[in-house]
Amino acid sequence: MYKKPKGTRDIFGLSINKWHKMENIAVDLAKQFNCSEIRTPTFEDSSLYLRSVGESSDIVTKEMYLFEDKAKRQMALRPEGTAGVVRAFIENGLQNQPLPQKYYYIGNNFRYENPQVGRYREFSQFGVECFGNESAWADVEMMQMCSLFVEKLGLKNTKLIINSIGCPNCRKLFNQALKEFAERNKDKLCEDCKTRTNKNPMRILDCKNENCQKILQNAPKLKDFLCNDCKNHFDMVKYGLEKIGVNFEVVENLVRGFDYYTKTVFEVVANNIDGKPLSIGGGGRYDNLVEEMGGMPTNCVGFAMGLDRIVLLLNEQNENIDVYLSNAGNVEISDIYLIANNLREQGFSVECNLTNKSLKKQFAFASKLGANFVCVLGDNEIKNKTITVKNLKTKQENQIELKSLVEYLKNNTN
Ligand code: HAM
Repeated sequence: MYKKPKGTRDIFGLSINKWHKMENIAVDLAKQFNCSEIRTPTFEDSSLYLRSVGESSDIVTKEMYLFEDKAKRQMALRPEGTAGVVRAFIENGLQNQPLPQKYYYIGNNFRYENPQVGRYREFSQFGVECFGNESAWADVEMMQMCSLFVEKLGLKNTKLIINSIGCPNCRKLFNQALKEFAERNKDKLCEDCKTRTNKNPMRILDCKNENCQKILQNAPKLKDFLCNDCKNHFDMVKYGLEKIGVNFEVVENLVRGFDYYTKTVFEVVANNIDGKPLSIGGGGRYDNLVEEMGGMPTNCVGFAMGLDRIVLLLNEQNENIDVYLSNAGNVEISDIYLIANNLREQGFSVECNLTNKSLKKQFAFASKLGANFVCVLGDNEIKNKTITVKNLKTKQENQIELKSLVEYLKNNTN
């Protein structure tokens, strides 16, 4: 029997509803913010990613799916969306159209990572790239979109973390200071950090090793190296977020794993199933990338939300259907079917028992579906014109008048 490749998933059943919901919310949100859709190829010339994401990044050094096509061209499956959108912006002459322009995409990406919960080799992102806007308010707008996306999905316990990594000028001085610090402490740092010291010192700050993190507490701070322009930009970003009521936290060691970022970087983090923080989205400003890739100097900022990780959290937080309707005793299916019809008309998602299953089996099925409520209609209920409603989460059970069922469910659904 064939098995799917490691790190990939088949998505079907109730999970598909979550995907549709996320994708619909993403498209609506993108339209509200005047972003138009862009679709770029799933594979590109591999050098595109080398130049943009960065030769020393984990993605390029360890994670790209590379292949040679029949004409011996080096290709790579798309590991992230920004590089392809930037290429398309330049190649299609969009840079000659009035700016700013905002594009959104929903698409699959491929990274050869160690698969684990929330980390896959094929995963999907909803991303937005804004071209031709140097204002800090453009950064604010991107971060607000991330916040609204999370809010509209009903995700709880998420946090927007932000930092400024400066421009190449201030970063040069910072990298030098950090390199000197790392060299002084090299005996205490892990092997990865030792390699990063020479290739890309700033990435040391991102090390997950607890011991390194302790040592890095005394490392030079990026904020002390920001030039006036970068500092003012970051102050304006924070002011803008506060002004429009988007909560955030400044995390001084947030640097992100791509070479293209300048000034603002940010991530949306959530607690995953094990209670560990999980990044569900990330982005930042990349003011030099278009020019570095052969286009005209263009200020850019964007983000991408990781849809697979968000689905994991939605599965945890949300129930899959509102109501499961059960019949007991001699009650006919048509009786519960009519109630189901009424509830569906009122906007509830409802599954209704259409078989001769025992009540015990019906309850087991309802809990497998993740129903909020099971409503049972038995001989007694028919006689008294009532219905028994059980909240599967709180286990609370009430017999209520049938005619007040809709009101009861509305009042008890949060
Ligand atoms: P990124 O942080 O690499 O940024 O990815 C964004 C999000 O994609 C992550 O926060 C995470 O939720 C999700 N993600 C990344 N890798 C995986 C994986 N292996 N499995 C599941 N989900 C994953 C970017 O890709 C940048 N292009 C974002 C950006 C757009 N910056 C500017 N514009």
